[in-house]
Amino acid sequence: MRSALTLADVEEAARRRLDPAVWDFIAGGAGEERTLRANVEAFRKVRLRPRVLAGAGRPDTATRILGRTWAAPVAIAPVAYHTLADPAGETATAEAAGAVGVPLVVSTFAGRSFEDVAAVATAPLWAQVYCFRDREETRRLVERAERAGVEALVLTVDAPHLGRRHRDLRNGFRLPDGIAPANLSGADYSSPSGHAAAEFDPALDWSVVGWLRSVSRLPVLLKGILSAEDARQAVAAGADGIVVSNHGGRQLDGVPATLEVLAEVAGAVAGACPVLLDGGVRRGADVLAALALGADAVLLGRPVLHGLAAGGREGAERVLRIVVDELVDAMGLAGIGSVAEAGPALLWDGPRPAAAAVPGALAAPVAPAGSTAPGGGLGMADLHPSLSDPVLDTMNFLNDITRRYPRAISFAPGRPYDEHFETEQIFDYLRRYLDHLEERGFTPEQRREALFQYGPTRGQIRELIADWLRAEEDVDVPVDSIVVTVGCQEAMALALRALISGPEDVMLVASPCYVGITGAARILDIRLAAVAEREDGFDPAELEAVVREQRALGRRPRAFYVVPDHANPSGNTMSLANRHALLELAGRLDLLVLEDSPYRLVSPGRQLPTLKSLDRDRRVVQLGSFSKTLFPGARVGYAVADQPVAGAGLLADELTKLKSMITVNTSPLSQAAAAGMLLAGEGRLAEINAEAIAHYEGAMRVTLKALDEHLPEPRRSALGVRWNKPSGGFFLTLNVPFRADDAALARSAEEFGVIWTPMSYFYPLGGGEHAIRLSTSYPTHAELEEGVARLARFIESESGSASASGSAS
Ligand code: FNR
Repeated sequence: MRSALTLADVEEAARRRLDPAVWDFIAGGAGEERTLRANVEAFRKVRLRPRVLAGAGRPDTATRILGRTWAAPVAIAPVAYHTLADPAGETATAEAAGAVGVPLVVSTFAGRSFEDVAAVATAPLWAQVYCFRDREETRRLVERAERAGVEALVLTVDAPHLGRRHRDLRNGFRLPDGIAPANLSGADYSSPSGHAAAEFDPALDWSVVGWLRSVSRLPVLLKGILSAEDARQAVAAGADGIVVSNHGGRQLDGVPATLEVLAEVAGAVAGACPVLLDGGVRRGADVLAALALGADAVLLGRPVLHGLAAGGREGAERVLRIVVDELVDAMGLAGIGSVAEAGPALLWDGPRPAAAAVPGALAAPVAPAGSTAPGGGLGMADLHPSLSDPVLDTMNFLNDITRRYPRAISFAPGRPYDEHFETEQIFDYLRRYLDHLEERGFTPEQRREALFQYGPTRGQIRELIADWLRAEEDVDVPVDSIVVTVGCQEAMALALRALISGPEDVMLVASPCYVGITGAARILDIRLAAVAEREDGFDPAELEAVVREQRALGRRPRAFYVVPDHANPSGNTMSLANRHALLELAGRLDLLVLEDSPYRLVSPGRQLPTLKSLDRDRRVVQLGSFSKTLFPGARVGYAVADQPVAGAGLLADELTKLKSMITVNTSPLSQAAAAGMLLAGEGRLAEINAEAIAHYEGAMRVTLKALDEHLPEPRRSALGVRWNKPSGGFFLTLNVPFRADDAALARSAEEFGVIWTPMSYFYPLGGGEHAIRLSTSYPTHAELEEGVARLARFIESESGSASASGSAS
């Protein structure tokens, strides 16, 4: 039965019930009331776009956050001492949360113990943490929460000191008998002087995230973020989630309403982690407004306490149900059937509804209309949110480091070794191609046109590519299934654009994953789901589970992008058994596979068969590159897309249509040079690359040998350092015992003269903080040896073991 009440009714009932001093404590001082009013007003200003006849049925409010499904995108905010509102306190709230299926965030100053609350909780429990000056106190709190079964930590970062509330607590309002923080043990917090001892660490900086991780395995969310800059820092520091909240800023005049900064923060976070918001959420429409502006969920603070005060466990449950029911109504009026569909198109002032067909409308919130730069002009929030995504800055940061430390040895660039290129040869290649055309009966005019004119959009060297694929890759496909692209990057972008047709579509990628595909997905506003990569590729059971999980969320996984051979970034190679398993799964789960394998033909020895060569059901779209096998300056790649499209031709034809509106055609001059090189090698890349393969094979061997020498057993085990041993390709993964982040990279470049790539850059949904990617392709062998020696010294130093540094030199 739906309640006819609103939260305002419940608040009024609570006011009548509560002791005025307790009421004031919950309402807060003047600063808090001002902040609350600003938050509520911001929600009131949002106008949602009503839609009719959407045929969406009863909207589904289910939401997935940090691997758990919530009944609705709503959780209970951390609020101190629920025991003030009801003697059962947080246990009553936890029962109410469980009945509705939404999480409870238990405050540091909870009146009931984590153990008591966990005993009755049936929905996810999170713990809110303040970082005390006495870190031990915080560590004990965290350990206790984790032991009790709490699933995430919410570190409140906007309260550098006990605010007015707690000063009031100390000075005037005394906690009634029996009300005390149940999870703190360092001081007698029930007495005013004891409470004063609960001093927060005033010198907190971003390293606190790492510290929390060092004392707990739980995901860490940061509560109190109000700007894009801090949001980016939070993601960089490894936060697993962000709570936009301004409660701590209540004493700062002019603190913005949380909803006002939401689009900015969500844009900066760009899907790297969930973004939650609290402050002033009082109606279901407010929840939808927050989702439209980029939040993944909201938290409710005071209203739940009002419910608790007005009617105990049932009262708190009623509050949650009112909000969820109102959310269902609001979603129905906005014409959406699931939470995933909520995006800026729901806003009256947002993009016109046509944009709702663009999946990005939900994955990537944009700022409401209007310039955000001071004094007009452009602000980042006026530009596409992908531009604020750290993934698009990855290369800039590495280039910047390389420029700043030119003498450092760099294991960062995935560039081909270029000593064997000869400048004059480029003319031979062009000549070779023109001769080939002449042999095939091209007139002089046709040959001129082949170099000087716009070329056919699908490419002019497709026959050569088809012949080469047949000869060397055992891939026998019609010429018409090939599109020549501007590098593999364009092939990826075309495939992504073509295959993602609606807001429910999602791309699967390995994690870690090549940034080219995650960056392209980001630019195209495409939602990603990750499948963990393993040394033998992936776990088929996990791929199946991820697909099922996405489907349960109402999404449609379209394709799985993989680099099966000597992957970038990890260096891992998919086993033959897993190649067969992947094709079987693709058929059974109705998925396509995007295969990208640029390194196999510059790797020594016999390679495993490509997925495309094993593909009997046209499940594989091959995305190819000649950057490693011919030369990267040509920027020539290709897509093999032989999938028939009902009522049309092949998928390749559709990719060609898209290409005609992006690059029109791949430069005929580039195609000519690449084709000439291919012809010079008689269509055999293995011949052309014999010298390069020997170099890369040697580079990997030298690097692995140097690692063995400079980090021998048992030293490496003692340090907790491990690496894989790729049989080819350019890359290997080194696991280290410290956080291998940008700051560590800067220290490594500055103090040790060696540059590498943080592996975390390649984790689309977070992870990889303790791993680095080493690229061995570009430096000379001598540089690799010296580079590893420097790297070992750096690792020893970061691991805090100066004593052993002698062994590393
Ligand atoms: C809070 N809040 C809070 N936040 C936190 O991180 N730790 C805490 O212990 C508390 N305690 C607390 C007590 C009381 C009485 C209030 C009103 C608030 C802040 C809370 O989590 C939330 O940010 C705000 O209440 C804003 O949300 P509402 O209340 O507008 O929905």
